[in-house]
Amino acid sequence: MADTRHLLGLLLGTENDWPSVFEALVRRLGPVTDGTGNVHSYDVERITVEPFDLRAEPPYDLVIDRLAYWYYHPREWLKKVALMDNVYLLNSPFTFQAMEKHAAYCAMMRLGLKVPDTVLVPYKNPLDHAKYAYTAERYNRSFDLDAVADKVGYPLFMKPYDGGAWRGVSRIRDADELHRAYDESGEMLMHLQASVEGYDVFARSLSIGAETMVMNFDPDQPMHGRYSVSHDFLSPATGAEVLSIGRVVNAFFRWEFNSCETLVRGTDVHPIDYANACPDVAITSLHYYFPWAMKALVKWSIFCTATGRAPRPYVDPGPWFAIADREDLSYDEKLAAYHSLADDYFETERYQDFCASRLSEFDEAALAYFQSPEFDEVLVTTVTTTFPVHEHEQFVAHFRGLLRLWCDEERTRLG
Ligand SMILES: Nc1ncnc2c1ncn2[C@@H]1O[C@H](COP(=O)(O)OP(=O)(O)O)[C@@H](O)[C@H]1O
Ligand SMILES: [Mg+2]
Repeated sequence: MADTRHLLGLLLGTENDWPSVFEALVRRLGPVTDGTGNVHSYDVERITVEPFDLRAEPPYDLVIDRLAYWYYHPREWLKKVALMDNVYLLNSPFTFQAMEKHAAYCAMMRLGLKVPDTVLVPYKNPLDHAKYAYTAERYNRSFDLDAVADKVGYPLFMKPYDGGAWRGVSRIRDADELHRAYDESGEMLMHLQASVEGYDVFARSLSIGAETMVMNFDPDQPMHGRYSVSHDFLSPATGAEVLSIGRVVNAFFRWEFNSCETLVRGTDVHPIDYANACPDVAITSLHYYFPWAMKALVKWSIFCTATGRAPRPYVDPGPWFAIADREDLSYDEKLAAYHSLADDYFETERYQDFCASRLSEFDEAALAYFQSPEFDEVLVTTVTTTFPVHEHEQFVAHFRGLLRLWCDEERTRLG
């Protein structure tokens, strides 16, 4: 029987809420004994940004990254530890850097998902590059933006090919709005995408490893009100389809911490934005769903490190495209086949078995934590640092209520 210590690293930007909760949950979980009797102990550390020797060995077994999507020094450090040190990454920059929204649209269209029709148009403004003028004069073919838009059809969405956080997104109703938005796009590279009009439900799923939560989302609400607590807002078949799509996207790109936005109209599920690797998981946005997310993040981190799951960050589209290209399979049959590849990738069954047999006390420990004054303090601090003073009382009560609801339901579930 061996005792292995693991260090889980957190690469963070501005947030302090979920990292404190993650640290507390790992502390309360204590050592984990795997199937062969080996004991695994865990520490969590917040990673600092500093010069690094490319040959230096990092102390981390796994890193959860919320920073590298905009801060390139840690991004390059992540590449180094992936290539040289076999560190397990949620997520690897080798996949989310190369595969932004545009590539994700392409891949999922090839798999036959109902991504709305999308056209990429050239830059509006000349690029700041010495070779641009010459190249553009020779090779940029002039095009009729109105004709492109007419073909996509109004209303449509214009949005950056590598979008996120609604930067540069506009809904375009006519040619005037089209030209205004394109003029304003400047040096951003834009998609024109057919709008999914009159959809019934905006279903946003959050996936962490082999777990997925499908949530009812309202993009018109302020951040704290976007997710509503509703459990049966989709028919079982549509709910299963939304879940499959999230898992398939993630297994295809090897994203293990990602959210997927789908618009459901009738019985059709249209994925529109599913390259959100390392999404926001703040208490103030997820509220009721926050404990689920934190527990999933802890369980997946423990599973990967205690079982020695090998990092496989390099996308391998072959098996997926082999299914996509079969003409004898319907959409539903393909989705089922993709889902089964996704289950292989995430080792879904093994993960569930590991949680049931090796982390059997974690549910109780986590519930005790979410009911504790220690967690309440994190909640209160988060609210007071997020909202203006006159809203503190209202929002502390609001989020306490939602978290209490989760605790009550969890207590019932655990009997
Ligand atoms: N094709 C579409 N049909 C309908 N609504 C859309 C479409 N594309 C985007 N939207 C709306 O615009 C919002 C932002 O677009 P999205 O692609 O999610 O960009 P971001 O990556 O910035 O979140 C979506 O949440 C949705 O409300
Ligand atoms: Mg979005």
